[in-house]
Amino acid sequence: MGKKSREILEINAKDLIKDLDKAYCDEWLAFYAYWYMAQSVSGKGYEDMAEFLNKIAKDELEHAAEVAERIIELGGLPTNNPVNLEKNANAPYPGIMKKLSDYEEIIKIVENAEAGAIEVYDKLAKKTFGKDHDTYQLVTHILGEEVTHEEMFENLKG
Ligand SMILES: [Fe+2]
Ligand SMILES: [Fe+2]
Repeated sequence: MGKKSREILEINAKDLIKDLDKAYCDEWLAFYAYWYMAQSVSGKGYEDMAEFLNKIAKDELEHAAEVAERIIELGGLPTNNPVNLEKNANAPYPGIMKKLSDYEEIIKIVENAEAGAIEVYDKLAKKTFGKDHDTYQLVTHILGEEVTHEEMFENLKG
């Protein structure tokens, strides 16, 4: 980020980098949990469930990349050792289902993780609005996708 770009930031970059890194760690944990569930899910119609999980896992990995890019632009570094991902995240690892065919449990895991993500990006959007246009644009874009994820899984409930 150049001199002028730094000048127009009306936010503490160090503080923002910390917030973004927490979101970055959340994204990795969500990606891993969804990807893992997609690989191991079983039961009637499991292919559809695996497809849904793979789709949102892919989105979370993209979010991690987008957030990492912004952290670096701001002069920071995202968490570089995977053993620290959970420690540095906003929330604990979303967990894996105990029974491979328990779709209700999968839906609950995803809904909880998505609700957490929506809260995180909503807070970041409010924090950066009018103060850091690029981060604001990024977090509202991600927020929109988290809202879609929550809706996708809410709609799977009977
Ligand atoms: Fe995400
Ligand atoms: Fe999501």
